[in-house]
Amino acid sequence: MSFYEDQILPRAIHLLLGNAAMRPLRTRAMDGMSGEVMELGFGSGANVGLYPEAVTKVLAVEPSMVARSMATDSIAASPIPVELVGLDGQSVPLEDNSVDNVLTTWTLCTIPNLDAALSEVRRILRPGGAMYYLEHGLSDDPRIAKRQNRFNGLQKRVAGGCHLNRRIDSILTDAGFHLEHPARFQIAGPKTMSAMYSGVARLA
Ligand SMILES: C[S@@+](CC[C@H](N)C(=O)[O-])C[C@H]1O[C@@H](n2cnc3c(N)ncnc32)[C@H](O)[C@@H]1O
Repeated sequence: MSFYEDQILPRAIHLLLGNAAMRPLRTRAMDGMSGEVMELGFGSGANVGLYPEAVTKVLAVEPSMVARSMATDSIAASPIPVELVGLDGQSVPLEDNSVDNVLTTWTLCTIPNLDAALSEVRRILRPGGAMYYLEHGLSDDPRIAKRQNRFNGLQKRVAGGCHLNRRIDSILTDAGFHLEHPARFQIAGPKTMSAMYSGVARLA
């Protein structure tokens, strides 16, 4: 891994996504989430402090050691226990049927083998469990989608493997989830990264 990917990128992501403007989106995406939660792509812990009170424990999966260490203070201050349990969402060291819910924010764009990660989510979720998601992906606007497809390779190189053009809702339904309250909206910023998807993907 390059110095840029290892040291700079996690800090840049923290500045871009960990800021106050994103907090209402994060809070809304977690509405109704409860119990033991596996957070996929925990990053620098931008969701810590925002989890609903009904969450009893967070089991975090995150490969970046720099991002993990950036989360140290917020984990220590969190009223809800947070445990770093794994490095890769494609192979999660948790038992089958072991968590109530999963949380993913701005992460499904980046995981290389999304099928493998979603299969892990299905495996570790207890019956009736769901994945709460807040993600960017492919735009419905054909002009923007064309740009997203065109710049996807560049984006992957400069943003740690982030894809601009994943159609999150159909990826989730194809993976066997039923989407509750699926929402599509735009956020401020470059149009290629502003098409958002959020909702609750429940085991069908
Ligand atoms: C854009 S960041 C988002 C971080 C955080 N979820 C947030 O909302 O700020 C994407 C995160 O996915 C993580 N990631 C990349 N590959 C992963 C994998 N295979 N399994 C789990 N997380 C991964 C990255 O290290 C990074 O922290």
